[in-house]
Amino acid sequence: MAILNIRIIGDPVLRTVADPVTEFGPELARLVADMTETMEDVDGAGLAAPQVGVSQRVFTYRIDGVEGHIINPVLENSDDFQDDVVEGCLSIPGISFPVRRHRTTRATGVDVHGNPVVVDAEGMLARCFQHETDHLDGVLFTDRLEGENRKAALRAMRDATYNKHAERTTAKRAKTVGSSFGGASSAVGSFGQSVDN
Ligand code: NI
Repeated sequence: MAILNIRIIGDPVLRTVADPVTEFGPELARLVADMTETMEDVDGAGLAAPQVGVSQRVFTYRIDGVEGHIINPVLENSDDFQDDVVEGCLSIPGISFPVRRHRTTRATGVDVHGNPVVVDAEGMLARCFQHETDHLDGVLFTDRLEGENRKAALRAMRDATYNKHAERTTAKRAKTVGSSFGGASSAVGSFGQSVDN
């Protein structure tokens, strides 16, 4: 197994609609195992394959000690909504806002062997399934925000992108002058909010 590199906002794979999985072989098993290990490593609540650069409809989850994965998920959401909860995203470090999500959802899909899976979810698990399935459609939680929160998120993301470029430029410069201080900035920062997926 391996820890995978998590893609950060600005990477086109995060805005691409992922393809359905059609091959259920060792490569898929390795992807699910690596995604699970990566999610544990960063203490995330969930991880979608596009976040590790793989444009396929796979996500892993880890809520209240329960771990799992769903391939080719289809959600049947309730019409009503749960109380807003602050979400973050491993691909949008340092930004978190309350998001509106359906109260319950039924996730239907298959497991790594191609066997049917049905999970009825409420609360944080339902929230996680909606967040991860959005990733498979190229949708980020910040797209779900409205009004002032949306404006604040867009502003913060612009700043984050700017800082990322600035860091990269600094690291490049450091290399060219033979200094060794560059490159230490981690893409995945602090977690403290309730859901980071
Ligand atoms: Ni996310």
